[in-house]
Amino acid sequence: MRVPSSASFDTLCIHAGQAPDPASGAVMTPIVLSTTFAQDGPGAHKGYDYSRAGNPTRSALEECLAALEGAKHGVAFGSGCAAATAVLLTLRSGDHVLVSDDVYGGTFRIFDGVFAQLGIEATFVDMADPDVALSNMRANTRLVWVETPSNPLLKVIDIERISERARSRGVPVAVDNTFATPVLQRPLALGATLVVHSTTKYLNGHSDVVGGAVLTSDDALAARLRFVQKAVGAVPSPFDCYLVLRGLKTLAVRMKRHVESARLVAEWLKAQPHTLRVRYPGLPSHEAYGLASRQMTGPGGMISFEMAASLEQASAFLRALRVFTCAESLGGVESLAEHPATMTHASLTPGARRALGIGDGFIRLSVGLEDVGDLVADLMGGFEAAART
Ligand SMILES: Cc1ncc(COP(=O)(O)O)c(C=O)c1O
Repeated sequence: MRVPSSASFDTLCIHAGQAPDPASGAVMTPIVLSTTFAQDGPGAHKGYDYSRAGNPTRSALEECLAALEGAKHGVAFGSGCAAATAVLLTLRSGDHVLVSDDVYGGTFRIFDGVFAQLGIEATFVDMADPDVALSNMRANTRLVWVETPSNPLLKVIDIERISERARSRGVPVAVDNTFATPVLQRPLALGATLVVHSTTKYLNGHSDVVGGAVLTSDDALAARLRFVQKAVGAVPSPFDCYLVLRGLKTLAVRMKRHVESARLVAEWLKAQPHTLRVRYPGLPSHEAYGLASRQMTGPGGMISFEMAASLEQASAFLRALRVFTCAESLGGVESLAEHPATMTHASLTPGARRALGIGDGFIRLSVGLEDVGDLVADLMGGFEAAART
């Protein structure tokens, strides 16, 4: 890295891991597509031998992401789910994981549908009260998994208190920081051991890459993750690494605007007669407003709300939107709206969805970078369509 690691966050977004290419002087990181690398003699290579094991474009991304999260090590994967899987592959059969109850549906599916049958058991608990939550730890608990703010309920969990208590028992804490990004929240500085990202979302920011990463300063865990990355091979392509690096250059400015617009949309939604409740960590009505204000430097660009609506009315709302696109995913420059019960969280059992409060009128918004007046007018059109249904 040419830029010092002490440089400010906004500078690291643009430069970390990306010194001009020594061979050509190229300022933008070259996309190195070669799968194999010449060796002067057997074993005498320049740090790369085969692209699954290591690739210069991927190294630049890993270094940049590690710098942004304040980590020593970054390990990139082909998706956020592959990153989560790699973390769980550091465990052994018979180990137990304590997991926050409102996690992305795909994360739940990894625990419930893949690792449960390999003998790694997960217990899902509400982590609003860290002491109550951690009373569910067992002698064989080897990992605590936290998603905050959570998807789709935007619950906020106290990373510092959870980490302090788990670490006093020698158990590492992994935080899925996808919703907040390191612009708004730094889990490692709060005591977590691992940060997991779906780079598909805000980090890339343009909805054209699926990717993931794990960041840590723990040398032993990093070595194991690096081994899993090479052994299992769920690696991102060099082109995708390049795109995420390009997206990261504008991360800080994008997040500022996401937060500004989401705040306005959330306040507007709260004042509407059609909404039963609005969940946004930047609203004083959010149950963890105080914690979110301390733990995060901004409440993020995601909002969820519940309409007094049947499934048909919620569907009419989503069909009527013209600026928001009805689609899964989040964190891109464009605004998205979705229906967790039938889309992103359909993999939860109906009972689990009911227990969490994800009903037919529950909508999740990813507030993009369009004009906020256009976004509000669009939501108004959606409510009118729902009322006509
Ligand atoms: C919070 C969170 N974590 C992880 C993932 C999984 O990421 P990916 O889709 O890149 O596998 C998602 C996807 O929506 C997510 O929202």
